[in-house]
Amino acid sequence: MRTHKCGELNKQHSGEAVELFGWVHRRRDHGGVIFIDLRDRAGLVQVVFDPDSPETFALAESARSEYVLKIKGLVRNRPSGTVNVNMHSGEIEVLASHIDILNESETPPFPVESDIEVNEELRLRYRYIDLRRTAMQEKMKVRRDVTRTLRNFLDDNEFFEIETPYLTKATPEGARDYIVPSRTHENAFFALPQSPQLYKQMLMVAGMDRYYQVVRCFRDEDLRADRQPEFTQLDIETSFMDENEIMNVMEEMIRQLFDKVINVKLDAIFPRITFQESMSRFGVDRPDLRIPLELVDIAEEMKAVDFKVFSGPANAPDGRVVALRLPNGGDLSRKDIEDLTKFVSIYGAKGLAYIKVNDRDAGIDGLQSPILKFAPDAVWAKVLAKTDAQTGDLIFFGADKANVVNEAMGALRVKLGHDFNLLEGEWKPVWVIDFPMFDWDEKSHRYNAIHHPFTAPSCSAEDLVANPGAALSRAYDLVLNGTEVGGGSIRINRTAMQQTVFNILGIGEEEAREKFGFLLDALKYGAPPHGGLAFGLDRLVMLMTGSTSIRDVIAFPKTQSAACPLVNAPALVTDEQLRELGIRLIKPAGKEKV
Ligand code: AMO
Ligand code: AMP
Repeated sequence: MRTHKCGELNKQHSGEAVELFGWVHRRRDHGGVIFIDLRDRAGLVQVVFDPDSPETFALAESARSEYVLKIKGLVRNRPSGTVNVNMHSGEIEVLASHIDILNESETPPFPVESDIEVNEELRLRYRYIDLRRTAMQEKMKVRRDVTRTLRNFLDDNEFFEIETPYLTKATPEGARDYIVPSRTHENAFFALPQSPQLYKQMLMVAGMDRYYQVVRCFRDEDLRADRQPEFTQLDIETSFMDENEIMNVMEEMIRQLFDKVINVKLDAIFPRITFQESMSRFGVDRPDLRIPLELVDIAEEMKAVDFKVFSGPANAPDGRVVALRLPNGGDLSRKDIEDLTKFVSIYGAKGLAYIKVNDRDAGIDGLQSPILKFAPDAVWAKVLAKTDAQTGDLIFFGADKANVVNEAMGALRVKLGHDFNLLEGEWKPVWVIDFPMFDWDEKSHRYNAIHHPFTAPSCSAEDLVANPGAALSRAYDLVLNGTEVGGGSIRINRTAMQQTVFNILGIGEEEAREKFGFLLDALKYGAPPHGGLAFGLDRLVMLMTGSTSIRDVIAFPKTQSAACPLVNAPALVTDEQLRELGIRLIKPAGKEKV
């Protein structure tokens, strides 16, 4: 029977007889003595074989990397001078008296060492080996600690964990659905949920008061480092709480989470800023507040200048002109600035004007820039004052449609913050509130819901109908270091208001009935005021483990092209299965691929 795990042994066990199970991490032969670093989930221990027992020694000699062993032996202190301070068990070793080779291993496709770069496709194909690496084991452990701590908090606060279906009907969260054909209902399909949004609302109608679920969500959308086609939410809904009460409880939960799992003390109160302020100061609705740079509006100053690039957007209702000051950026070379100009062009910016502030006290003569000639000195003086420019600074300018300026200059702000090591503080959570209800889609000529169509407006139905574009919602997002980790809202709990919102979104009564009739019905039977939110669990764990992608904190993630190289999914199905489902493929696949 296993007496200990390898990595947990230490000096206190010295003198004890132990039985261990694990994998051969490394084997070294040292002039008649064999050392095997044996590895299990708890870590490594050094096992020593001396030639006194020839049978054991011979077996140890035949062991290779990743063989699975059972070892019996005696724990002893390592001779002085051979202590390994980098290893938890580095002060002791196990003198083996017995070894069983429980299984052999082929040479693994890559070494089980954390610090060796391995192609991600290969890692995912052999994920069971990748997950043996210490770094991955630690991430999985943090993930386990995170869900456990969150569950404990929610249980203590009287939330019920309730499961909701995966085979269901489309829930709009802005992505495409994954659909599943039904065999028993001809021509009908289930949709995998983009979130449990409507079920959790119906749980509130059902009087469940406080609900949560650690739940998989499915969204067929373009993937990025922080997006997966299936991902996990900590999904939450409450009755009779307003947005402030909800944000306060959730803040406390996140504070406890960081404290308990990674020993980080977050702010006692998370700041809250409005969507509008966030866009204005940072160009994005998920600001990284560790970066002390800000966009400064200068449209007023640029309205009358000779430079069309600036005066055009300054006078256009949908235009924006901003300055972004980089302290001590005056040293940037022409090449540096060219590179940054290329960078902003990815976001649609047509250029990146700049001014170097060589001497703040010398007025216009202290400035250096190709655009100085386009505006009177007084204008530049105002720009310097507004941006609080100092000698040695560089000021960048962006002028275009507001959305282009926001995207380009928002991204430039983040890039400069990182490239110039300007980050202040390690953890900067912030609530973004007062989102607009809708945004106008130029292409399809209609409004889209910014959160989702079940979010309550802050205004009356009359005001909403009169000016949908100006209406604010009762939605809130939690942003941490520039990543949106959670979002939610107070919901509509009356049928008439829900219908009004559907109308504005161009969903007529008939369509609303067909798609959401069940919700409209539920709202008629005493739906309490309710609201909630959902956290992206993978994103939280990604940030807490310092990972650069959520793929690193998901045991079996999909690739960027939404496939699983381990099991080779998605895959073709047999003609028989298709027949049963009543499905005919447009481009039938060659049989040999099945
Ligand atoms: P939302 O769509 O904002 O809200 O999602 C909530 C949180 O889930 C995370 N998230 C993702 N994580 C990984 N991969 C993805 N593809 C992905 N998409 C979203 C984000 C996000 O903040 N039903 C509402 C919540 C509510 O109103 O209560 C919802 O799903 O961290
Ligand atoms: P030009 O007159 O086109 O040579 O531009 C003069 C300067 O303005 C150059 O530094 C350009 O990079 C910059 N510029 C051009 N278009 C924009 C824009 N939309 N926003 C900010 N700077 C721009």
